[in-house]
Amino acid sequence: QPINPPVVHQQAGPEIHRGLAGVVADTTAVSRVNPDSNSLLYRGYPVQELAAQKSFEEVAYLLWNGELPDDEQLAEFESAERSLRRLDHSVRRVIDEIPTSADPMDVVRTAVSVIGANDLSTPDSSVEANLAKSLRLFAQLPAIVSYDQRRRHGLDLVEPRDDLGYSANFLYMTFGEVQEVEVVEAFDVSMIMYAEHSFNASTFTARVITSTLSDLYSAVTGAIGALKGPLHGGANEAVMHIFGEIGLGDGAAERAGLWLDDTLAHKRKVMGFGHRVYKHGDSRVPTMHTALLTLIEHYDRPDLLALYDALADGMSARTGILPNLDYPAGPAYHLMGFDTASFTPIFVAARVTGWTAHIMEQLAANALIRPLSFYTGTPERHVPPAAAGE
Ligand code: ACO
Repeated sequence: QPINPPVVHQQAGPEIHRGLAGVVADTTAVSRVNPDSNSLLYRGYPVQELAAQKSFEEVAYLLWNGELPDDEQLAEFESAERSLRRLDHSVRRVIDEIPTSADPMDVVRTAVSVIGANDLSTPDSSVEANLAKSLRLFAQLPAIVSYDQRRRHGLDLVEPRDDLGYSANFLYMTFGEVQEVEVVEAFDVSMIMYAEHSFNASTFTARVITSTLSDLYSAVTGAIGALKGPLHGGANEAVMHIFGEIGLGDGAAERAGLWLDDTLAHKRKVMGFGHRVYKHGDSRVPTMHTALLTLIEHYDRPDLLALYDALADGMSARTGILPNLDYPAGPAYHLMGFDTASFTPIFVAARVTGWTAHIMEQLAANALIRPLSFYTGTPERHVPPAAAGE
């Protein structure tokens, strides 16, 4: 059964499902999004339970292998991940050639492409080779994202620390100092929340590319392109731009109301709200909201909370449309000290786990993804014969 009632556009000819809304394109065992019970399961486990009890490394292992690691498996996995964290010189050289004014998503996309071009195992599509490639990307993306943020501020690369977990090391490489435990935990929760979400646009892009029997790096590069758009991953950045337009401080609630009235009157989308699948709230929001509250207290920023609440309440009162994960995640990354332009690259570092799990699943039972279209252009006509003598 389709998850949502299909959006069918009636016209002469076949049923058209624009945006593939409501279309069930394949099966997956990676995750289950259930909008009715407002739940999200990774390999059967509720994402809230994983966020409360497991690390992002354990969740990556789960997504790729189908089961949580035991102590020995986790130790082996963590040690392999830590050994791969250093940015390859060739990747660094290519990043250094890109102007610092470039969109960080373009930097990440290019870096992943270079990693693929340098990896001799790129054409090997065996499960072992693809697990190794997935781990390489998982381990290297924090170095790419953190180095790109640092070079935009004229700062040098910080080498990874092998004694720190994934999230503590990601923050350390970005800010040059080990961050406090509440901050590391909130960041780890955000990575778990962003890790996987069934057939979203970027994951589907990765599966389409994989279905042609292209390689894992090509599929991830394409997925990064899909995630860049403001209707998908780019929304977490847009939330901070909205906060900037409205402005923090006294009168924020009133300004948020006026801003919403104007935006909705002009039929513009309010980024960070709404979802294709969840129509009664995004299952990931409560957990990320709690993480954001911890950060607001940690950094003592009630002004940010006042604007955050005012916009969400105003949107709900006017439209009934509820926040999606990007709404609490954007301000959380802002409080941690990330540039707004780094937010979607962080999403890449998280979602690479889900993308690669889907790439491997697609390959295990591949069918070329190639839908049909209904032609509405000019009816058949013929090129006029050339006039005699021409
Ligand atoms: N702001 C204002 N109106 C909205 C919003 C919004 N954020 N979301 C939906 N609507 C309205 C639409 O204007 C439309 O109204 P209409 O019927 O009067 O034309 C109606 O709700 C249905 O919206 P659609 O865009 O057709 O629904 P769809 O399922 O395609 O939308 C989407 C999902 C694209 C995510 C949409 O809600 C949106 O654009 N949100 C803003 C972007 C965003 O936050 N994206 C992040 C997604 S989650 C993630 O990537 C982690």
